[in-house]
Amino acid sequence: MSDEAHIRISGVKHAYKTEAGPLPVLDGLELEMQPGAFSAVVGPSGCGKSTLTKLLAGLLIPDEGEVILHGQPVTSPRSTVGMAFQNPVLLEWRNILDNVLLPLEIVPNKLNQKQREDRGQELLAMVGLEGFEDKKPSELSGGMRQRASLCRALVHRPEVLILDEPFGALDAFTREDLWQIMHELRHREAFTCLLITHDLRESIFLADEVVVLSGRPARTQHVMDVPFGADRSLEILYTPEATDMLHELRHQIQVAQGRVPANQEQLT
Ligand SMILES: Nc1ncnc2c1ncn2[C@@H]1O[C@H](COP(=O)(O)OP(=O)(O)OP(=O)(O)O)[C@@H](O)[C@H]1O
Ligand SMILES: [Mg+2]
Repeated sequence: MSDEAHIRISGVKHAYKTEAGPLPVLDGLELEMQPGAFSAVVGPSGCGKSTLTKLLAGLLIPDEGEVILHGQPVTSPRSTVGMAFQNPVLLEWRNILDNVLLPLEIVPNKLNQKQREDRGQELLAMVGLEGFEDKKPSELSGGMRQRASLCRALVHRPEVLILDEPFGALDAFTREDLWQIMHELRHREAFTCLLITHDLRESIFLADEVVVLSGRPARTQHVMDVPFGADRSLEILYTPEATDMLHELRHQIQVAQGRVPANQEQLT
């Protein structure tokens, strides 16, 4: 493994303590990401994907193994991390701009109020929410709320962006809009991104590599490089190359679910 990796997760094991005894969730997780990389993590429901995000965010400490961010073990929550989830959880008593600015009230920074507002407005404009600064969350559609939540995750210029199924609750067309917005954000903001998703098309449209986790307790089962460049249109999803990749990922998920053995030929 390289020493320059921005994120290095190696040999990670973790079990939750439950009334019925320990529940092993992660068992041999390996993941390495360079600065600016974008990795998608897919795997069966309940295999431990959200647990992985909590380890990276410093909300959980692994029983065994290492979670290293910028050369340092992660032992507590980091202000250099931004997170967005399936449910945006915006505060209804704050307008959209004030929701986006919330992390700047928590994370130490030298910005004055005007600079904070400029930063929030810059992000809202990037995601097409210019003019919605004063609205309340309930006045926005689900897709708009999720865009605001992405702005909130990025407002303090985190080095690492963790997205846990952020587009999972959106309809297919809104989801595709958000994918394109993610590409634009990636061009304009410098972050290393770990995306958890159930959507295999989403994983290959957005990421540079797709990591498939096995069933629980999860280990890294398969890593697929995504050869598409930085400028991607939705058309790439309809190429034979993308179809082959989706086919292989689907096979890997079925292996992870224990539905087919790893060495079984894929049906075409
Ligand atoms: N705090 C906790 N205490 C005990 N068990 C937990 C806790 N959090 C999660 N689990 C269990 O750990 C396992 C992994 O949970 P996790 O949320 O990481 O899965 P996931 O891969 O994100 O699932 P999904 O795809 O459904 O979001 C599940 O069986 C879950 O019930
Ligand atoms: Mg989850």
